[in-house]
Amino acid sequence: MIRSITRTALRTNVIRLASSRVALATPRLAFSVANKSTWANVPQGPPDAILGITEAFKKDPFEKKINLGVGAYRDDAGLPFVLPSVLDAEARVAKKNLNKEYAGITGVPDFTVAAAELAYGADSAALLENRVATTQSISGTGALRIGAEFFAKFFPSKNIYLPTPTWANHSAIFKAAGMTPVSYRYYDNKNIALDFDGLVEDLRKAEDGSAVLLHACAHNPTGVDPTPEQWRALSNVFKEKGHFPFFDMAYQGFASGDTNKDAYAVRYFVEQGHQIALCQSFAKNMGLYGERAGLFSLVTESAEEVQRVDSQLKIIIRPLYSNPPIHGARIASEILTDPTLKSQWLEEVKLMANRIISMRALLKKNLEDLGSKHDWSHVTSQIGMFCYTGLTGEQVDRLAKEYSVYLTRNGRISIAGITSSNVGRLAEAIHAVTK
Ligand SMILES: Cc1ncc(COP(=O)(O)O)c(C=O)c1O
Repeated sequence: MIRSITRTALRTNVIRLASSRVALATPRLAFSVANKSTWANVPQGPPDAILGITEAFKKDPFEKKINLGVGAYRDDAGLPFVLPSVLDAEARVAKKNLNKEYAGITGVPDFTVAAAELAYGADSAALLENRVATTQSISGTGALRIGAEFFAKFFPSKNIYLPTPTWANHSAIFKAAGMTPVSYRYYDNKNIALDFDGLVEDLRKAEDGSAVLLHACAHNPTGVDPTPEQWRALSNVFKEKGHFPFFDMAYQGFASGDTNKDAYAVRYFVEQGHQIALCQSFAKNMGLYGERAGLFSLVTESAEEVQRVDSQLKIIIRPLYSNPPIHGARIASEILTDPTLKSQWLEEVKLMANRIISMRALLKKNLEDLGSKHDWSHVTSQIGMFCYTGLTGEQVDRLAKEYSVYLTRNGRISIAGITSSNVGRLAEAIHAVTK
């Protein structure tokens, strides 16, 4: 009897325990099912413009489709290109059996020194006097973000002047850091050329001491750069107004095939005494897209100022990602510090730039041979990976729909997507929609 009572009590307790577990679990279940998900209010964001093009391109079953949206170099067979100098450097790095310890917050020292020398020139007085604060970055985008954060904290104004048009990510990067993008005129749509007068007028109208972003070479998306003479005039405008030049150099070497020539604006401004900010990327010129090797640097007044700036860069970077990846930086520094490997790399940069230049000439020639009445001289006068064709949004839509040729609606084509075997079909398509 006692036993059976105990058993009954035990069973009741077990049932109670089980139901209390259910009771505990139920409210949570009821919250997500009967009410709504914690993320129910997250709105659908717009797709990235470039990725949208790639999606449409992938879905198109046509065999001879052409993708001119992607900003990455392709060889004449339309394939990604791994530079032989990069493969060589990678093998040398592997042979060294280096450890995989963390880099310091500002990166791999051999890399930061070599990257700064590539941009400023090994004989740069600012470098020789230790007046340049440097930090490795997550490629060019990361350099821009570090710079934007530094400016948001320490630059007297929160405005950053950006050219119209500019790389789509610029505005988002500066906004994310708390800066306010303001536009200045850069490109003249009517004449398909640099709007130099508009540019100077807008910089003169800007409040004295403004931060102004400049594409150091191969302006993305227009492919239109100031001439050396115009850069010199701009340096004077910056002096008059006390503006701060914030250079983005994502394509050093890629524009002309010569890393020194492409660094003209940066070096001239530094020689003229401007304290510049500079963002570098090794994505395009070394083909290290996914390795994310870049550099952010600031020219300061003294070695003592470098120490203070450096301490603040570290404070910005530490909570962002602690320290940068080492592999790409090791490859880049191997190339930049070995004279033989460096000259091989410089030849390969030239090869990539020359293929781009020859595809521009071929596209123009094909359009002219087809009897196009338009002036296509801008196709060859523009430089770098991109060409701002002047095609309208409607013409771009027709190119995709009727000819399986994909590009951004602003008429920008990535010349890297053109090959000697697709240029004829591309010219026919462009000619057809622009008649
Ligand atoms: C003007 C400009 N700046 C910066 C970047 C950054 O590139 P990444 O972060 O791949 O180095 C790009 C890439 O397309 C660019 O065109």
